[in-house]
Amino acid sequence: MMSHVIIKGTGSYLPENVMSNDDLSKMVDTSDDWIRTRTGISERRISTGERTSDLAYEAGLRALKSANLKPDEIDLIICATITADSFMPSCACKVQGRLGASLAAAFDLTAACTGMIYGMVTAEQFIKTGMYSNVLVIGAETLSGALDWEDRSTCVLFGDGASAVVLSRSDSGGGIIGSNLEADGSKKNLLTLPATTMLNPYVDKDIEDKQYKISMQGQEVFKFAVRTITSNIDFLLNKTGLTKEDIDYIIPHQANLRIIEQAAKFCKVPVDKFFMNLDRYGNTSAASIGIALDELVASGNLNPGNKIILVGFGGGMTGGSILIEWV
Ligand code: UT7
Repeated sequence: MMSHVIIKGTGSYLPENVMSNDDLSKMVDTSDDWIRTRTGISERRISTGERTSDLAYEAGLRALKSANLKPDEIDLIICATITADSFMPSCACKVQGRLGASLAAAFDLTAACTGMIYGMVTAEQFIKTGMYSNVLVIGAETLSGALDWEDRSTCVLFGDGASAVVLSRSDSGGGIIGSNLEADGSKKNLLTLPATTMLNPYVDKDIEDKQYKISMQGQEVFKFAVRTITSNIDFLLNKTGLTKEDIDYIIPHQANLRIIEQAAKFCKVPVDKFFMNLDRYGNTSAASIGIALDELVASGNLNPGNKIILVGFGGGMTGGSILIEWV
């Protein structure tokens, strides 16, 4: 019999520094009113120097504590990020070293804002096959370093943060009962963040620094997001035979209040089943779903038997979702 994969612990970490909409309106031609009404965001955390691996480490430490596991009980660390401090070493290796998780393998994964879902589904496979028992999945970003702070159409949307979950093997029921991953590379230009310049003796290109920042076709991403949330919820309900009424909470990627409201309308699920904290943190990319999950756990409102859908969408384009029976 295949073993069950449960969430044994959660953690999150946000930089202390708060940037309000009013702070932003002193930097670019925007206003608190525009940002609130178009996105639902009031403020976000912006690092004053902490790097992605610093945030990832803190979130990982908290998740281990909540899972009641020692670092050497972790078999694998997956870090989902598009803003790693370095290509080499990976963020996951830096975290592995700082945690002292000396028996753990470690690698990074990029799926943009769907990173936490891709990370968790990857971890699920390692556990189901029996290869590993405990996997630490981290979503961590310092998108503030990847933004063009003169581009009002993107710089108001994002924030820094990290989250982590420990996934573990369990012989009793529950845990992850359905999952889905998808990608559509034909839409690769909707949301981009170039990694590095191609400079070798045969290439002579003078490219502006700005090309190495996030760029986005906002309205197209908006439509993709609404479709992805809606189709993933339908897919998971079909796959598991559950109904909308069986679902207690939906944790969508925290990008825009209007995206979530529209998706709720299309799926005919009451919007109050959608957990939201984007007003306080903005869009933290791979970190957002885990931060929301950690807050939901901390709120004490999650009970054994509750069914939760996590659903993400992001650059690539990528999408994915997980249905969990809380244990
Ligand atoms: O993880 C995925 C990441 N990305 C997303 O989730 C983004 C998805 N897209 C969105 O959330 C929305 O498309 C945005 C919030 C980015 C934009 O909202 P919108 O309702 O689609 O606005 P728009 O792009 O149609 O722009 C409307 C107006 C434009 O002015 P004009 O042409 O009507 O005069 C923009 O120039 O708003 C202007 N605008 C702003 N005004 C004040 C754009 N950004 C700002 C701003 N402040 N920050």
